[in-house]
Amino acid sequence: MSPSNPQRVLSGMRPTGQLHLGHLHGALKNWVKLQHEYKCFFFIADWHALTTEYDNTSNIATSVWDMVIDWLAVGINPGEASIFIQSRVPEHAELHLLLSMSTPLGWLERMPTYKDQQQKLKEKDLATYGFLGYPLLQSADILVYKATMVPVGEDQVAHVEMTREVARRFNHLYGQEADFEQKAKDAMRKMGKKNAKLYKELRKRYQEKGDGEALNTARVLVEEQQNIVLGDKKRLLGYLEGSSRTILPEPEALLTPISKLPGLDGQKMSKSYHNTIALREPPKEVEQKIRTMPTDPARIRRTDPGDPEKCPVWQYHQVYSTSETKDWVQAGCKAADIGCIDCKKPIIEAVLDELKPIQEKIARYQEDPEAVQAILNDGCEEAKDVAKETLEEVRQSMGLVYK
Ligand code: TRP
Ligand code: SF4
Repeated sequence: MSPSNPQRVLSGMRPTGQLHLGHLHGALKNWVKLQHEYKCFFFIADWHALTTEYDNTSNIATSVWDMVIDWLAVGINPGEASIFIQSRVPEHAELHLLLSMSTPLGWLERMPTYKDQQQKLKEKDLATYGFLGYPLLQSADILVYKATMVPVGEDQVAHVEMTREVARRFNHLYGQEADFEQKAKDAMRKMGKKNAKLYKELRKRYQEKGDGEALNTARVLVEEQQNIVLGDKKRLLGYLEGSSRTILPEPEALLTPISKLPGLDGQKMSKSYHNTIALREPPKEVEQKIRTMPTDPARIRRTDPGDPEKCPVWQYHQVYSTSETKDWVQAGCKAADIGCIDCKKPIIEAVLDELKPIQEKIARYQEDPEAVQAILNDGCEEAKDVAKETLEEVRQSMGLVYK
């Protein structure tokens, strides 16, 4: 993590069910990489799990625990990232409530996930206040850490977009001051001639052309200023985007590259399709699952030639195999020189090799719950420190200070 970089990354997962290879090759590897580059906050969204599981809460605690251990086992490093549980930082709830006062119902009703999920989970009654508010709780999760980058999958981008609007509205409502423009210009002068000029150019590029990179560069420039008091920094950050102080910065979605590893049947790997290999999958099951994976339907008999492009096993080779092995598959499949079971052997090996160290680490953490507890305690403390500070500022700007 570079201390001078003001970018902050935040992401969360709902503790519903076991993590699998799709998570590993999608979100988790991305997180491991990000933690080296930025200050990262990774949390388990247990309240978000409640929005759909409120009628059966008995598994949540176990899922939370397993999830923390799995994160640690795949290399999320508590020395670099803060790992914590949402409900242990009640500031999320306070900010959610405060934001709810000014968030139009329409913003929530229009979220694509709102209707989609109700459709998908027909057996559940999701016509609840909590479920409607799901994206706003997510906004609070993000804004309470003033996160600037939020790695999410495609389906969550709309939530981050809404968070930007929530932040903008908040700043507009509570970041106004009488002579803002003059104060911003005074602050600009305090940066020195050269920096002020650069700031102005970047601001112009952002405001006239919507150049997001210019905005980021300008934000870094402002954060780097050592002779400027905090209040002026907020004005300068706000002046980049509009006419009020930035109390809550607008985050950007960082689209997670889609996992190249599909499910066993070639569709997206997902619990609801029953096509997963869990991180905790016992080796025997791994072998069994891969052996019974569907292949190119044209290969009915061993002597029928096939086409790797029509086979999910080939996609696994693309993730796991060397170019030699891949050549062997291509030639052998098309000429019916190899059988599908032969073809799957290197995949079974590769997946077992990948899972072995992960499962060993899982076992080690399971044997040492105090260590896991200590990691969580530290992570929660780190998160709380930041969240507390934001709420003080939020209450202050809203006029909710009674001393
Ligand atoms: N809604 C996210 C999901 O279902 C989980 C989540 C909750 C989240 N709060 C968040 C993700 C904040 C990113 C940032 O995947
Ligand atoms: Fe698929 Fe390999 Fe069988 Fe070809 S030989 S159909 S690539 S499993």
